[in-house]
Amino acid sequence: MLTNQSKEIIALIGDPVSHSKSPVMVNRAFQEMGLSVQYVAVQVKTNELKQTLDRFNEKGVKGFNVTIPHKVAIMNYLDELDQSAREIGAVNTVVKADGKWIGFNTDGLGYLQSLKEEIELDLKRERVVLIGAGGAARGVGYVLAQAGVQHLTITNRTQEKAEVLANDLSSFTTTEVIPLQEGKTAVQEATLIINTTSVGMHPNEDVTPIPVEWMHSGHIASDLIYNPRPTKWLKGAKERGARIHSGEGMLVHQAAIAIQHWFHRQAPVESMKKALIQSLSE
Ligand code: ATR
Repeated sequence: MLTNQSKEIIALIGDPVSHSKSPVMVNRAFQEMGLSVQYVAVQVKTNELKQTLDRFNEKGVKGFNVTIPHKVAIMNYLDELDQSAREIGAVNTVVKADGKWIGFNTDGLGYLQSLKEEIELDLKRERVVLIGAGGAARGVGYVLAQAGVQHLTITNRTQEKAEVLANDLSSFTTTEVIPLQEGKTAVQEATLIINTTSVGMHPNEDVTPIPVEWMHSGHIASDLIYNPRPTKWLKGAKERGARIHSGEGMLVHQAAIAIQHWFHRQAPVESMKKALIQSLSE
């Protein structure tokens, strides 16, 4: 996997990673930026994180991205965390600097940039339901709470995780936790509903994180999943008149911010988006 000796390597670790469109998008960015760097997806099991970092050290890997399911577990193996990663409690971008692995979180900021770019909204007036309480939910919840959304309801299969996240974010806005099965009223009264779980992601495309019947025309439905695009849930929400926001914009923007961390240069966001959308339609 990491055998290309002529180019510097930036990796993506996750499990699974074979579906990921990040390599196409990030390699397009590196190419346009004139960087002799290759972005390589590596499938890593949770019990292989330490040995993977050892291997990256040996190979001189300069940085990597982290995806499902390692965004929280990876923190145990890093030397430092920047403030965003520390406060969010999850890492999606790791940079090697002065021989140390430093963890960042660009998910939340990437999400917010994408949402604002695609949907006209006033964050301070939004009542948000966040579905999920994993690493991605923590990133998105953190930036939304810091942006001062009016109210944040968190619902998750494992309720204790939702309670921890709600408590962590309660210094920024009013938070509340509801059981996933009993979310109908909270969803119907909210303005922005965000799916941060993997429910509906390829290849399990025929399921939805919450019933589409709960959605209506007053909603913004936002799904972090970008494959398929749109998901079954977003399709149903759109049919019911909701404005929809798909996951590819977040993927592009979180990657662009990661590239800035690795190379201290602006990434070509529009070209990255084109490469991603082209690859999604293949
Ligand atoms: P990520 O870093 O991408 O957020 P994660 O930390 O593993 O990944 O979190 C995955 C999220 O999707 C969690 O909220 C998880 O719910 P649990 O906390 O109960 O595990 C949610 N999730 C994954 N598969 C799910 C499923 N089949 N039904 C409901 N929720 C699911």
